[in-house]
Amino acid sequence: MNQYQGPGLFLTFEGIDGSGKSSQCRLLADHLRGLGREVVLTREPGGSAGAEEIRSLVLEGDPDRWSAETEILLFTAARRDHLERTILPALAAGKVVICDRFADSTRMYQGLSRGDLRATVDSLHKLMIGREPDVTILIDMDPETGLARAKGRQGTEERFEDFGLALQEKMRAGFLSLADEFADRFRIVDGAQDMDAVAADIARIAEAELDQRS
Ligand code: TYD
Repeated sequence: MNQYQGPGLFLTFEGIDGSGKSSQCRLLADHLRGLGREVVLTREPGGSAGAEEIRSLVLEGDPDRWSAETEILLFTAARRDHLERTILPALAAGKVVICDRFADSTRMYQGLSRGDLRATVDSLHKLMIGREPDVTILIDMDPETGLARAKGRQGTEERFEDFGLALQEKMRAGFLSLADEFADRFRIVDGAQDMDAVAADIARIAEAELDQRS
């Protein structure tokens, strides 16, 4: 065990599509490894073998392939597997877990985008997950820029990008109000800055959290 090893830290990233989360997750993982921390970099949906299989079910195909209710079940099933097999063992070993999206994404995308299903999302979360991140970094940015970036990435996983700008605007407002609701763990970072400045803000936040816990 090296001198920086302390209790585990569960850190999640949230934000609209194209907000730069995935790149920032990687940059933070590299940064913390450079400080001697053991880091597990993971993502949702996915992060374990079973959850990665569910990922292709939920992210590929027609936008109306699943009802919102079925999606809640699928995302929660994937999350449960991810938690059991990847997240909790890593935290128990004192590692930093950096996760690209977690339950807040279900609260927003399934809980808000097609009617108000937030109560259903919360009930299932309580029953099957029962764990919130220690810190959640919200990369806030203008939906038009986010959508342009997300569309620029060609690929098969575009069910949600297909919902368009109106959804992204609703999601941005939703994430900001979620940050108010869970003010103790949310930190908002301005995603309009250049990548290095965003990364520096995030590194400061993560280091402060780790210092507080050591
Ligand atoms: P991803 O490739 O991770 O996109 P991004 O880099 O923009 O995060 O795809 C994740 C997509 O899945 C994204 O559009 C949001 C959606 N999603 C949900 O709808 N509910 C969820 O619970 C999660 C974790 C993701």
